[in-house]
Amino acid sequence: MAGTPAGVGAQAGGGAAFLPTRRSLASLAWAAADCRGCDLWAHATQTVFGEGGARARLMLVGEQPGDAEDRAGHPFVGPAGRILDRALAQAGIDRGRVYTTNAVKHFRWEGRGKRRLHKRPSAAQVSACRPWLDAEIDVVGPSAIACLGVTAAAAVLGRPVTLSRERGTPVAGPGLRPTVVTIHPSAVLRTRDDAARHAQLDGLVHDLGTAWEAARTSS
Ligand code: URA
Repeated sequence: MAGTPAGVGAQAGGGAAFLPTRRSLASLAWAAADCRGCDLWAHATQTVFGEGGARARLMLVGEQPGDAEDRAGHPFVGPAGRILDRALAQAGIDRGRVYTTNAVKHFRWEGRGKRRLHKRPSAAQVSACRPWLDAEIDVVGPSAIACLGVTAAAAVLGRPVTLSRERGTPVAGPGLRPTVVTIHPSAVLRTRDDAARHAQLDGLVHDLGTAWEAARTSS
C-alpha cells in the first residue's frame, strides 16, 4: 500500500458511479463489493460494508475496517469491535438494534514486515467513499448518528472536528439528525494506564448512551 500512487485504478468522482439505482441495504452491499471509487480496493481483501438493523434508530460510524474486519468482511469484529461491544453492553444498547458502518469501506494499510498496519485514510479517500455513507443514511434513516473518532466525525459532519471540544454533545448532522462525536474504541486499547483506560471506556459508554437517548427521543 505504501507508495501506491493516489488514484491508481480509481474512478474519478469516487463511489457515486458504482451506486445501484434501486437502493436497499442488500443492493448497496452487493454493488459496493465492486467499488473502484478510490485506489484502496486494490490492496484490500474485500469491501467491508455496514451491517445491522435495516431500520435502526442509531447508526454508528467508524473510520475504516481494520485487519480483522478486512479478512472477515464485517465491521468492528476485531479488537476495537470487542471494545465497542463492551461499551454498547455497558450502555444497555443491543448491537443488533444499531447499524454499524465505516466512513471508508476498504482497509488502508502499510506493510511492516509481515504485519499490515492501519494507515489513516486520506481526505480524498474519505470523500470518494462518502456516497456509500450517504446512501446508507438514506436507506436506514437513523434518528441519530454516533461518530467513533475524529475521522468518522469529519466524514459525517463534512468539516474538521476537534474531539476535545465537540465530544458527547449532540450537534446537527446529516439531515439535521442529532450526531454525537465520541472517541474511537481503539483509543481505549491504546491507553496503557489502567485508570486512564477505564476512564476512556466510561467516556465511550457515556457518549453512546447520549446518542442512544437522542435516537430514542428524536423523530
Ligand atoms: N476500526 C474501525 O473504525 N472500524 C472497524 O470496522 C474496525 C476498526
